[in-house]
Amino acid sequence: MRAIDALLDRVSTSSLQDPAPDGPVLERILEAGLRAPDHGRLAPWRYVLIRGQARIVLADIVAKALQYRDPDVTPPMIEKQRGKFLRAPLIIGLGAHLRPDHKVPEIEQLMSVAAGAMNLLNAIHAEGFGAIWVTGANSYDGHVQAALGFEPPHSLAGFLFVGTPREPVTPARRPALSDHVIEWTGAPVR
Ligand SMILES: Cc1cc2nc3c(=O)[nH]c(=O)nc-3n(C[C@H](O)[C@H](O)[C@H](O)COP(=O)(O)O)c2cc1C
Repeated sequence: MRAIDALLDRVSTSSLQDPAPDGPVLERILEAGLRAPDHGRLAPWRYVLIRGQARIVLADIVAKALQYRDPDVTPPMIEKQRGKFLRAPLIIGLGAHLRPDHKVPEIEQLMSVAAGAMNLLNAIHAEGFGAIWVTGANSYDGHVQAALGFEPPHSLAGFLFVGTPREPVTPARRPALSDHVIEWTGAPVR
């Protein structure tokens, strides 16, 4: 696969099954994450691999955190949230090891984590697998973040759910280039 084709063809999917990338293939994918631009060489990326039985432990932590957030949450809702963490064979927690005291602004450190996540998504696709980046209340929850090892000032930029697409992924409709690219000629763009 040409690199440019991998970038242009990638589509997120949450419909995933075994196998997930493993061994040297997974290592290559993770290495791609570490190639993200990084102002100040702070290396803020922390990738937490959650697979096998560990997914059940995480799903239980998510369920408990949900009950703390909303004591009235119903059992079906709890099961729905637990289920999200059991569907994909591999979850990559996108840890952000942040240095608020550093002269490189925290937003730039987070952008480096996001750039690393994008590299992972592209590499996962280039290796023939599928993935989706998910955040939401579960990933922003302090209990969940702490369980994965990210106490403030560190945090979690979400989860990548990773595996093999259950069915061939159909190309997504993409925005038109003309709506997003403007030649600047001296006047502010609109
Ligand atoms: C930071 C971030 C957080 C996201 N969180 C969610 C999420 O919680 N749930 C969700 O369904 N999609 C989420 N998305 C969107 C998907 O990852 C994905 O981009 C979207 O489904 C479009 O698919 P595409 O990547 O093929 O364009 C998030 C994307 C980003 C960049």
